[in-house]
Amino acid sequence: MKSIKIGLVGYGTVGKGVVKILEQNRRLIESRVGYPVEIAGICDVRPVEPISLYVPRYQDLIANPAIDIVVELIGGYEPARTVILSSLKAGKNVVTANKAVLAKYWNEVFTTARARKKLVYFEASVAGAIPVIQGLNEGLAANRIEKISGILNGTTNYILTEMTKKSIDFSVALKQAQKAGFAESDPSFDLEGIDTANKLAILSSLAWGSWIKVPQIYTRGITAVTKEDVYFAAKFGYVIKLIGQAHRGPRGLSLSVQPCLVPKRHAFAAVEKEYNAVEIHGDAVGDVMFYGKGAGQMPAASAVVSDIIFLARQVANGTAGQVPYITYDPSQKINIIAPNKTEGAHYLRFHAVDKPGVLSKIAGVLGKHAVSIARVYQEEPHNSSKRGVPVIMLTHSTNHGDLLKALKAIDALPIVKSKSIQFKIED
Ligand code: HSE
Repeated sequence: MKSIKIGLVGYGTVGKGVVKILEQNRRLIESRVGYPVEIAGICDVRPVEPISLYVPRYQDLIANPAIDIVVELIGGYEPARTVILSSLKAGKNVVTANKAVLAKYWNEVFTTARARKKLVYFEASVAGAIPVIQGLNEGLAANRIEKISGILNGTTNYILTEMTKKSIDFSVALKQAQKAGFAESDPSFDLEGIDTANKLAILSSLAWGSWIKVPQIYTRGITAVTKEDVYFAAKFGYVIKLIGQAHRGPRGLSLSVQPCLVPKRHAFAAVEKEYNAVEIHGDAVGDVMFYGKGAGQMPAASAVVSDIIFLARQVANGTAGQVPYITYDPSQKINIIAPNKTEGAHYLRFHAVDKPGVLSKIAGVLGKHAVSIARVYQEEPHNSSKRGVPVIMLTHSTNHGDLLKALKAIDALPIVKSKSIQFKIED
């Protein structure tokens, strides 16, 4: 064997970064693999510029017997899924950054890989540059994983950071994040929490050896977070972050992606802009924290090239695929706790008319539904508005189903001017 050959499918932002690292660190990579690593062909369905080593059809690249590893960086569901599956069936090992395909087709991808005795590496699919897949899969392999919690989306974290630091509206911060170039081609995937849910599904499937599906995750994005909420959260000593969380308790697994109030003293509060962080609790190790750039060209490319290096080493010594990379047992079932059966403290914001008896009415409905109030705060409205005055309440830990019932009843009261807002408090 003279060199390990790579077929690259998808020559966008990350693909270009991968080529750059392979060129810049060529010698270093060769010394780490023991053989040179070379790009043998690049396919892009919509090339915007001339590409050297260009192969117009990905099918030809996959059929090329000289290619050892196919790197899929197209994104989206199709043809990315087909590229991954047909590469495995053609006897190639695969590196992908595609969280959407992995989360949706976990079973198909990993049963095909196992049947064909090939490997799929996917470090770049979760938290960009951070080696959390390898960390969880290998570094923490001795542990029973009890909790995974993280800031897993750079775009929303960028927006929330800008809203917090500059007191700007969501829409202004969104434009800035888009300009910075982290957002998915469909930014609603970022904003509605779907990107975070895909990543949480991957981490959870890896941690618990069973396929956790995105629809099993209670998912809310950040579009309901206002400048006002950021301001009130700060008054109580919190910052708002989009948190993906999976917790395994005696009743089963609870899974959520939602905006949360995080205490300013918590490490997550200091995770800013496109940075991501993941905290994992293992029974033997306790808490482990991963931190780094979660989005952007070179951070994602760093993870892809590291995967290429580990795979290339195994291809070189003929061991690639002899043992599967991940633990996955399709027959293993895990109980998922319904979102309305989970517990937690919450931040509530109401817009109510400012007259005697309003607070007691709201508090009365909460009490009737067994929601206990920890703190109350009211301020004159920031702009004179017909929406009434903001009333903020923090609750003690409460059943989520009871809370939602209470909020529905409160929203029906004539004294309430707009739909109430609730975000979980993470302590
Ligand atoms: N759109 C993603 C993010 C890119 O903002 O985190 C990395 O997956």
